[in-house]
Order: sequence, then C-alpha cells, then structure tokens
Amino acid sequence: MKVMVTGGSGFIGSHVVDKLLARGIEVRIYDLIYPEFIDGMPQNMRKLVDYYQGSLLEEDRMRAATAHMDAIYHLAAVANVNDVAKDPQNAQRINVQGTFNVLEAARNNPRIKRVLYASTVWIYQDTPQGTGILSEDAPISLPAHFYTATKIYGEAACTSYSKLFNVPTTILRFGVPYGTRARGEIVSAIFVKKALNGEPITIAGDGSQYRKFVYVEDLAEGCALALKDIGRDKIYNLEGEEKVSVRQIAETVNEIIGGVNIVYTEGRKGDFTGKDISNQLAKNELGWVPSTSFKKGMEKYIAWYRKNIHDKNEGSISL
Ligand SMILES: NC(=O)c1ccc[n+]([C@@H]2O[C@H](COP(=O)([O-])OP(=O)(O)OC[C@H]3O[C@@H](n4cnc5c(N)ncnc54)[C@H](O)[C@@H]3O)[C@@H](O)[C@H]2O)c1
Repeated sequence: MKVMVTGGSGFIGSHVVDKLLARGIEVRIYDLIYPEFIDGMPQNMRKLVDYYQGSLLEEDRMRAATAHMDAIYHLAAVANVNDVAKDPQNAQRINVQGTFNVLEAARNNPRIKRVLYASTVWIYQDTPQGTGILSEDAPISLPAHFYTATKIYGEAACTSYSKLFNVPTTILRFGVPYGTRARGEIVSAIFVKKALNGEPITIAGDGSQYRKFVYVEDLAEGCALALKDIGRDKIYNLEGEEKVSVRQIAETVNEIIGGVNIVYTEGRKGDFTGKDISNQLAKNELGWVPSTSFKKGMEKYIAWYRKNIHDKNEGSISL
C-alpha cells in the first residue's frame, strides 16, 4: 500500500508519516519543504519513504505525485490561526483551493481509495455547548474565525466529493496538539522556549481557558488507525483526554524546568475558548487510546527541545 501525506514535513504530518512507516506502509511526503526528520531514520523505514517537492497549488505536480497512491492524508495548510488572520487571501489559496486540488486529484484517480482530511476541533468554537459533550454529529455554526471557515470548507468539500463523486473521505478533527517537532509558535513551545531562556511566560487572559491537549504521537496514531475500513466516510474527533488550563501549562513547565515567572495580559480576539468534545467514536470504532499524560508529554517535549533546539542555539545570539 502506498500513501501520500501532504504536509508530511510539518509538525503533525511528520508523526503521521512515522506511524504509517511503522506499519510497513510506503509513504510519499508531498510538501514545499524537505522533511529533514527522514534523514535520521533506520534504513528499513527510510527505504519506505520518499519526498516529492510540490505545492498544493501545482495541479499537474499533484496529479503526477498521486498517480500510484492508494490513499492521501491531506495535512498541508496554513495551520497557524495568526497567519490566517494576517493574510486571509493566502489562507484561502492554500486551505481552500489547495484542498480542492487534492480532492480533484483523487476524483481523477480511481486507484485512490481514501482521502483523510486534517480538520480541527476549532470547528466547534461557535457551536453552543448546550448541556452535553459535543460529538461528531453536533451542528456546526457559522464561524467567527477565517481559519475555521477554511476548515469548514474542507469538511464540506470532502463530504460532497464523497457523496457526489464517490471519493471516500475521512474527516479527522484534531484536538490541540503538542510535542516533539512542534512549530515554535504553539503555546507549549513558546512557554518552554521562554522558560529555558529565563524569560517570563505571558498568558493571554486569566489562564483559566483550557484545552484538552493531545500528545502529537497519540494524535498521529489516531490518524493511522483511521485508515481502517470502518473509517470510510466518517468524522472522528481526535481530542485529548485531559483538561489542561493555560495556567497549568505554565505551571507544568515550571515544575519540569523551574524558576519561571508567569505574567498575565489581555485575551486574543476570536480565540478558541475550549469546548467539551467527545472522542468516544474514535475510541469505539478505531480503538484509539490517547494515553500520554500531559506531564509525560511535556517531559518528552522538553527533553527533545533541549537536545534539538536549545542546546544547539546556546552561545548564538537569539533574535
Ligand atoms: N497544530 C495545530 O494546533 C492543529 C490543530 C488542529 C488541526 N491542525 C491541522 O493539522 C494540519 C497540520 O498542521 P501542523 O500543525 O502540522 O502544521 P505545520 O505548519 O507544522 O505543517 C504544515 C505543512 O504544510 C506544508 N505546506 C504549507 N503550504 C503548502 C503548500 N502550498 N503546498 C505543499 N505543502 C504546503 C508546510 O511546508 C508544512 O510542512 C493542518 O491542516 C492544520 O490546519 C493543526
């Protein structure tokens, strides 16, 4: 079986690649950026993966890259909500047109048996919590953030391609991930960087806003499991288990590193304030178990960050 992962050089995509390779699946990474993490792999895994340089917007390259593939994981996107707010036109191109191009490549290639789409629990941001926990069939309200708008487009395009053109799709609504290879701008990464540099940690709002964080390797395992037949034309919330407030993140970083000064500032507009979201369907149907505790995950992340980023930059001037 051959599977293409768009965005396979990125934070989450790289872990999805690892999980697929661990199952003996051949993987093609389709990304603008070279996936450096594949260089350090053991030879038996390295020989199963190749890199195809290309943009979501290059339709011919996309078609050529997907020619001998059996499935596509579509993770490439403008994933940072601040980048979307800064340049919505670019986000529209990459997240909307780019997703359309992936689905078109799949529609024109009968070999492709599944497109798995990286969506987000931000989808629920504008859904009233009501009395219960939100599951995949909760109605989705029109969104306040354009990032969410692009992701709702992606979900709508997947379901309609599935029904209208018989392109089987799976929508994966990712919880908020953290862990090794994280992009520098996500909250846990920012906190760790500041703590290791001896700077104060800044929290937008009072720090009571919580997330159910999901450790990135657990999230990637959920993605790999979703390739099972039962995942065809389904939506899964790959949401973490443990509620962690922003204040607790800072405190956990302090517990592991020590000596951290925590400062509170005004909240961000349109930020995801946290909803109670169920991951029961993924557990029941896929056998997914997001088992890494927040403390354990942060220990792994901080060890990785020290070795791969902090220690390498020691002695250099930080800009
Ligand atoms: N990180 C999160 O908090 C989070 C949460 C929920 C959902 N998601 C979704 O998960 C997916 C992966 O997110 P991530 O955090 O790994 O992002 P990331 O930015 O680390 O990775 C995205 C990858 O896509 C590639 N890419 C961007 N534009 C491209 C283009 N035009 N053509 C080809 N490749 C392109 C980038 O080079 C990068 O390697 C995204 O779809 C994102 O919206 C992320």
